[in-house]
Amino acid sequence: MQTLIPNGLRVLAAFCGVGGCTRGYQQAGFHVTGIDIADQPRYCGDHFIQGDAVDYIREHGHEYDLIHAGPPCQHDCTLTAGTNAGKFTYPDLMAPTRTALEATGRPYVIENPPGRAAKKMRVDLTLCGEMFGLAVIRHRNFELGHWTMPQPKHLKHRGRVAGMRHGQWFTGPYFAVYGEGGGKGTVTQWQTAMGIDWTDVRKEIAEAIPPAYAEAIGLSFAAQFAGHDEAAA
Ligand SMILES: C[S@@+](CC[C@H](N)C(=O)[O-])C[C@H]1O[C@@H](n2cnc3c(N)ncnc32)[C@H](O)[C@@H]1O
Repeated sequence: MQTLIPNGLRVLAAFCGVGGCTRGYQQAGFHVTGIDIADQPRYCGDHFIQGDAVDYIREHGHEYDLIHAGPPCQHDCTLTAGTNAGKFTYPDLMAPTRTALEATGRPYVIENPPGRAAKKMRVDLTLCGEMFGLAVIRHRNFELGHWTMPQPKHLKHRGRVAGMRHGQWFTGPYFAVYGEGGGKGTVTQWQTAMGIDWTDVRKEIAEAIPPAYAEAIGLSFAAQFAGHDEAAA
């Protein structure tokens, strides 16, 4: 089989949100199609499809050179525990997503934050904002299917996350990019910290991964597979 676009690689960004990973793959030279269950009017990719990502991977995943899937983590993140327990219900999409990805036979990346979600995935790679000189820590784990890349060395964090906690203001080189933003930095600070300049909607920035992470993954993948039939094997 041949790579589907002779002069470039096509990635499917499943559960794409506003396009954090999408922009990174674009920076690495990929053509990016995003799919999300919600309309994403500010999506930054080359092509957008609104629909169910698991169904789409099952039916069309084999048409892409690489599939990056970031199924929603809310099922397992702390919002569903403690005082918020029971207030939110999200289906657990990790297992069905992996099953659909495996069925395509294509190389894939599953992305999720550390925490309980990490117990449901093999952690082949962990990236941190400090590896890219970003003003966020934002650790993210990645499971790599049918390919691999080296783990970059984790660098010591330069200080604390800035912001108001328990009535006290902490200074530091990192921003906490989540929640409503009270005492957590301005929208401009969030955009700069994450490397995201195409949306000023806090929720969209907060749900994204820094593009630098996917750029690093995409560059490593392209160095191994661009122009080689193995990408389609
Ligand atoms: C945390 S965001 C992922 C962000 C993304 N990985 C990035 O590159 O920055 C999760 C997204 O999954 C979407 N979503 C939830 N269930 C879905 C489904 N069944 N099919 C497609 N998208 C879904 C949500 O609308 C949300 O935009």
